[in-house]
Amino acid sequence: MGAMAGLRCPVMQNTSLHIPMAVQKVSERRAGQRGCRESLGFVIIGSEKTQHPYMLAPGSQFDRKTLFLRACGGQTTDRAPVWMMRQAGRYLPEYRAVRLKHSFLEVCKTPELAVEVSLQPYRALGMDAVIVFSDILVPAEAMGLPITFGDAGPELPEKIRHRSHVDALRDFDPERDTGFLTEAIAQLCRVVGPEVPVLGFAGAPWTLACYMVDGSGRTGFPDTKRMLHAQPDLLRELLRRIARNTARYLQAQLAAGAAAVQLFDTWAGELSREDYDAFALPAVQQVVNEMHAGKAPVIYYSKASSHLLESAARTGATVLSVDWRVDMAELRATLLERTGRLWPLQGNVDPAVLYGAEPEVRTAVRLALAQTGGQAHVLNLGHGILPDVSVESARAFIQAGQMVTESAGAGGVAGAVVAAPIVPGSV
Ligand code: CP3
Repeated sequence: MGAMAGLRCPVMQNTSLHIPMAVQKVSERRAGQRGCRESLGFVIIGSEKTQHPYMLAPGSQFDRKTLFLRACGGQTTDRAPVWMMRQAGRYLPEYRAVRLKHSFLEVCKTPELAVEVSLQPYRALGMDAVIVFSDILVPAEAMGLPITFGDAGPELPEKIRHRSHVDALRDFDPERDTGFLTEAIAQLCRVVGPEVPVLGFAGAPWTLACYMVDGSGRTGFPDTKRMLHAQPDLLRELLRRIARNTARYLQAQLAAGAAAVQLFDTWAGELSREDYDAFALPAVQQVVNEMHAGKAPVIYYSKASSHLLESAARTGATVLSVDWRVDMAELRATLLERTGRLWPLQGNVDPAVLYGAEPEVRTAVRLALAQTGGQAHVLNLGHGILPDVSVESARAFIQAGQMVTESAGAGGVAGAVVAAPIVPGSV
């Protein structure tokens, strides 16, 4: 691409993005048509009073929200939208600075702080989606289990062991009990404006149950697995309770303005296909059925789950988010054959690639995009960004994604698959 002929332009505070020359021209023209030439398609973060001019995503004819929703809906795009799981986090010095002054839970529960750290990666790197800052364990606390976050990760000292523990769980009211999250989403939407998608999220029931039963993530969840085999009805009941609350929690996030939601099933891969189908799958189906997402995409993330993905396609989710162990071209071909549908996918660069030099990061991005031809694809990492990678690597990831346009991506190995009919409006 002739993209490298672009200028380095000041964007948002003290950082800069590399904008391809062609994109600048298009953006300038479009922005000019709407009387906001100076915006040039850049994102401008302002106060709530800021007017939001029409702002194109870098390298795209679409604004970021349209680009994101089209990719999730299986519609064609000129490039894949890109963001990173855990994009607000310790690799950013400005995040570490906030955490020196405030505890993790304080940041989660103070909308102004949650909004600030959610915006940090967007300001620094200009990705195509902003995920609200929170944690999958917040609803566990709202259901009555205290949580602490120490150096060794999260801890839930009151573990679920007996039916009485499940019975004692609260059905919480998302507005009353986790209003800080819906407030953070509403504030984020006001600040970034209608052209940028704000993402909500929750843990999937099985993954949340792992923490509620085992109390931490350190041990591989032996107690949850014991419950699965020794007290299967109790685990089912726990999963149903979590699913019921998660559906309402996600629905509240959509009502607050989230453009899409993601369900994190990080520990799905711990299960055999048989156990996944018997326990985790019906609980995710319950969440999706009860949340009435309407047209809003539901992204389902599962890790180390190559053996489960045909089942994951039955969750009711719109987009499957997969890790680096999965060949997305093969997955797409398999799912097309089994379901008759071209599946929107998210992923899947190994987060460890960001330890490499920038050319390696760019190569990994191109390889990921080649698997899908960049169509019906939300470019992401295969798991959360690691806390000790450099900001430059993260920037290389985002910028490489934003520079691979249709012509570059569509020539990839997945061209034949992408040529298959895309189910219109499949959200
Ligand atoms: O993506 C984002 O930027 C939004 C924020 C977000 C966090 N956690 C912030 C966080 C999201 C989406 C999560 C999801 C989450 N939390 C998952 C699913 C995704 C995954 O990574 O597998 C899980 C399993 C958790 C539970 C959790 N929270 C663990 C295991 C840990 C400790 C591990 C670690 O990275 O320290 C946390 C803490 C946590 N959640 C941090 C952040 C930024 C680090 C806390 C800190 O600031 O010290």
